[in-house]
Amino acid sequence: MATMLVTGASRGIGLELARQYAADNWQVVATARRPEQSSDLGKLVKQHGASVQLHALDVTSDDSIQILVDTLKGRAIDLLVNNAGIYPREGTHVGQLDFDSWGDTLDTNLFGVLRVTEALLENIAQSERKQIVAISSAMGSLHGAVGRSVEQSGTSYQYRTSKTALNMAMLILSKELAPRGISVVMITPGWVKTEMGGAGAAISPQVSVAGIKKVLDTGRMDISGKFLSYDGSTCPW
Ligand SMILES: NC(=O)c1ccc[n+]([C@@H]2O[C@H](COP(=O)([O-])OP(=O)(O)OC[C@H]3O[C@@H](n4cnc5c(N)ncnc54)[C@H](OP(=O)(O)O)[C@@H]3O)[C@@H](O)[C@H]2O)c1
Repeated sequence: MATMLVTGASRGIGLELARQYAADNWQVVATARRPEQSSDLGKLVKQHGASVQLHALDVTSDDSIQILVDTLKGRAIDLLVNNAGIYPREGTHVGQLDFDSWGDTLDTNLFGVLRVTEALLENIAQSERKQIVAISSAMGSLHGAVGRSVEQSGTSYQYRTSKTALNMAMLILSKELAPRGISVVMITPGWVKTEMGGAGAAISPQVSVAGIKKVLDTGRMDISGKFLSYDGSTCPW
């Protein structure tokens, strides 16, 4: 049975990814900073039993990552979904830029993805599917920022640059890992009704994740190195 691991599964898109893969009979390793505090994750375990395993993981902590690596030693991970992310709302206008907070944002949204991916690389390499996903954002698109997007969706220096840099890092990674048959894809989930996206967002986590799953099932190596939307369309860099 195939195994997937998702970061930031306590709520939102990460929780829904865990739900939908568990419903499809995957082995799900659902990680969160404090998994015991997520009643939704508790319910998922009750529903699916041992096929859903909860693990503590803070993507900014080397110690936390090492504990997970030791726990999963020798276990194949077919699909790693780097989903955990933060969206700071303060210190994002010129004159009030907050560089400490910016550093924290990069630490989670960029370095966190690379730390976890690097740490679990051998688990992925020994699997059948060998697929790595980064949940990115259209807000990281340079093309979008050149258009009306900054006026429409806000300056968000910290968040935008973290996702632009994430795309660059994952693109490089896709090239570096291609000879090992490992696929690396960046996906924008749409504007989703979660704590981050807000109640006024366009789509539900259910719709977003159903789309993401469909995209991931289309030609594993064909989509490697691409920046795709949950609906399968290409997102401009
Ligand atoms: N919602 C949208 O419209 C939208 C649009 C584009 C992209 N995205 C991206 O989609 C992903 C998921 O977002 P969401 O909407 O589901 O947001 P969310 O509801 O705020 O959930 C974010 C998740 O990330 C976790 N997290 C934050 N920092 C972490 C850390 N250091 N280590 C481990 N987990 C951490 C949170 O865990 P805690 O419970 O521990 O805080 C939570 O589970 C993010 O990468 C986001 O940038 C979302």
